[in-house]
Amino acid sequence: VNHNPANAGEEVARFLGQAGRYPFVNVLETPITATVETLSHRGECVNFLSNSFLGLCDHPAIIGAMHRSLEQYGAGAGSARLVSTQGVHVELEQAIAKFKGRESAIAFSTGMLANLGVIPALASSPMYHLVRKMDRELAKKLFPTTTVLIDKFDHACIYDGAALAEHNLWGGPQAKVVRYNHLDMIDLRQKLQEDLEESERIGVPRARIIITDGVFSIHGRLAPLDKIVQMAREFDAIVYVDDAHGTGVLGTTGRGTAELFGVDAEIDVPLGTLSKAFGIAGGFVAGSENFCDYLRTSRTYMFQTAMPPVCASGLVEAIKLVDSESWRRKAVLENADRVRRAVESIGLSTLGSAHHIIPILIGDEQSANSIAQELNEAGVLVGCIMYPAVPQGEAILRCNMMATHSEDNLDRLITNLEHQCRRHGTI
Ligand SMILES: Cc1ncc(COP(=O)(O)O)c(C=O)c1O
Repeated sequence: VNHNPANAGEEVARFLGQAGRYPFVNVLETPITATVETLSHRGECVNFLSNSFLGLCDHPAIIGAMHRSLEQYGAGAGSARLVSTQGVHVELEQAIAKFKGRESAIAFSTGMLANLGVIPALASSPMYHLVRKMDRELAKKLFPTTTVLIDKFDHACIYDGAALAEHNLWGGPQAKVVRYNHLDMIDLRQKLQEDLEESERIGVPRARIIITDGVFSIHGRLAPLDKIVQMAREFDAIVYVDDAHGTGVLGTTGRGTAELFGVDAEIDVPLGTLSKAFGIAGGFVAGSENFCDYLRTSRTYMFQTAMPPVCASGLVEAIKLVDSESWRRKAVLENADRVRRAVESIGLSTLGSAHHIIPILIGDEQSANSIAQELNEAGVLVGCIMYPAVPQGEAILRCNMMATHSEDNLDRLITNLEHQCRRHGTI
């Protein structure tokens, strides 16, 4: 072998390690709560790393439901859902459908797997050959070429789902993938127009799907879903929103970013994760019963062992808590407002953020990395995000807020942040 990719991988790891480009990862010894204990730090640390925005990871009602589930259903699901399904998986999907106000829902083991399955199912159906064998004309009508338009900052698993649709190996139609500039509605319109004109010129009709994160997890920015829905209607496209970070938190009832923009019912493919506000793991899509049944043919549903039943049971409880403990939504957003005001008053930019994910611009990567490590040593855990996740020279510290952070927790962040930033001359 001239070139051994495994050896090359080892070398890359060594190279990046020596260059200090592997992020420092905390090993936590406690549940994911507002304060945690790590292997490297004695005493409690305040946690701004977690996506458990509502602070549900250690909720006694969830833990109780999971204990009971272990007794009833045992540890693992034992097969893919299409082979056999445990009652609690069905119960979970009913709970999600009710939560999202749709007829039905489908649950996946993770949010990532939901995107990896659903995008190809919509844009390059793995079912194409089966339908074609049974009815050629129907297959032609149902599976035109599809253009998938994604925001340049969409999450990695949207990129990967789109790549699977573009390069599918199962022989259905291959999707065309177009990236539009982050949150840029002028660019989106232009890309839709170009795609429309191209398909008219070659005389081949195309379906179009606009896929966007609801809340972009790096900077906490929101997609302008009202404008996207309007543009989609103009261009006869459908709207697919991955609201991993908005579900359970945003909108008057926590239904997510689309609720905040008043367009919840108009999202054609509402996808969410169950790993963030809901505190466990999983992904879902809600919709009509037939649509969800169709999505059960997606490869990451069909070929994956189902979510452990214990998770499904905890999630049924977590969904109830989003409604019954609405104070958590209010608290996480109030905590975020308080931190944002304090950070800005010490002279740092939060890049116009307005919700529960707060980016703090440091700029220089070495400084950002050092400040994050020093905060860590002082027992304040924040994310440090550098190139290539953000442009070079625009490194940020990211604080993910929780409903359960106390005033003391927030003060500890601000005091230490100000101290370290002064030391490094960033304020
Ligand atoms: C927009 C988006 N989609 C999907 C995912 C993946 O979800 P999960 O962690 O549940 O697999 C994430 C994770 O951060 C995300 O931000």
